[in-house]
Amino acid sequence: MSNGKKLQLADRLKGTEGNVWVEFGKLAAENQATNLGQGFPDFMPPMYVVEALQEAVSGKNVLLNQYTRSYGHPRLVNALAKTFSHLMDRKIDAMNEVLVTVGAYGSLFCAVQGLINPGDEAVIIEPFFDCYGPMVTVAGGTPKFVPLRPKIKPGDKVISSKDWILDPDELAAAFSDKTKLIILNTPNNPVGKMYSLEEMEMVANLCKKHDAVCIADEVYEWLVYSDSQPHRKIATLPDMWERTITIGSAGKTFSVTGWKIGWAIAPANLMKCLNTMHQNCCYTCPTPIQEAVAIGFEHELSIIDNKKDCYFYNLAAELEPKRKVLAKSLQEAGMIPTIPEGGYFMMADTSNMKVDCEDGTDAPKDFKFVRWLCKNKKLAAIPPSAFYSKDHKHLAANMVRFCFIKKDETLESASKIIHDWVATM
Ligand SMILES: Cc1ncc(COP(=O)(O)O)c(C=O)c1O
Repeated sequence: MSNGKKLQLADRLKGTEGNVWVEFGKLAAENQATNLGQGFPDFMPPMYVVEALQEAVSGKNVLLNQYTRSYGHPRLVNALAKTFSHLMDRKIDAMNEVLVTVGAYGSLFCAVQGLINPGDEAVIIEPFFDCYGPMVTVAGGTPKFVPLRPKIKPGDKVISSKDWILDPDELAAAFSDKTKLIILNTPNNPVGKMYSLEEMEMVANLCKKHDAVCIADEVYEWLVYSDSQPHRKIATLPDMWERTITIGSAGKTFSVTGWKIGWAIAPANLMKCLNTMHQNCCYTCPTPIQEAVAIGFEHELSIIDNKKDCYFYNLAAELEPKRKVLAKSLQEAGMIPTIPEGGYFMMADTSNMKVDCEDGTDAPKDFKFVRWLCKNKKLAAIPPSAFYSKDHKHLAANMVRFCFIKKDETLESASKIIHDWVATM
């Protein structure tokens, strides 16, 4: 009979138990809420990739239902190498400089676990995709957090993600001899900020000065709006290829978040660190899904210069009016939305909203607000303090994150909820 002492969570995982997607996904389902919470489309992906997956499992090529190469199905790593050679203007070696993982999560995990030693530090810019912090601590590292600071002036009704400022002194102060890596997410989730060339040069110079690696999370690289600056890859800045791991996601690229295929692109010596983790973790990813994603890349690469037809660009064009609809509704409610330059999330400042959302828990204020919104107005969102470290959660106390990669009907339903709510204020 066990006394239970050994049937417990490993010490290194303590403090990482909560998960915002689990709590707020469940709450949205329980309340049958209009869901602008988690970032996934509620419409079909391009039919030809769906058909490619059907074809892959049909048995015409029996081996496509079996294990494939550990570091990536040959057809997919070749397609990724060709696409990213084109984008990065350098020849990428498909067999040594590309790794296919279980979503971009898998690449982040392999990069952090493959590089961090106990005592190492990792610079993380806030707000950050929520797994960055736990991944670093679980590896034995210490995250050094640097918050972006939104500049909202009195009277502002709307701001841009460009107004979320990265302070050069704060960033430089987070680097030291112990810094192993920085994670740079552009376009950023949840703000939608796209780092300018000057900001990227600042990060690159610090990486070079401290001999640190840059993990560039670029899962939203295609989701860039017509009024935004172009997406830039930090790996293409002078002397940065040798120290950058660029991460992407098929889920975001082809609107198939449930397929969970991601990739990392890096020079062979850095890639070995990720490969070592990957081969001892999940070993390989589902073959038919990799085959279908490969067909997707082959097709899009063949039309990449035709911005009207290429899915990479026309998805962003489709999202642009949705961004406008959501921003208008949030403003109608008295919130101050941040118009994202990229990605499909919108942060909104709720300081002007008079809502009594006290629920008797010691949760951060934005958690209480989002729970209240879901239960009382049937509108699901995400509380952004989940994207801040413990010491900086207060910075998101009056913020909410909404997702707009949704059908027009879903966004109309959200607008109606907000409109009816405003009428009762
Ligand atoms: C910034 C960022 N990185 C990584 C991921 C994970 O991507 P995937 O679903 O491919 O694992 C997400 C998903 O929302 C994200 O927003």
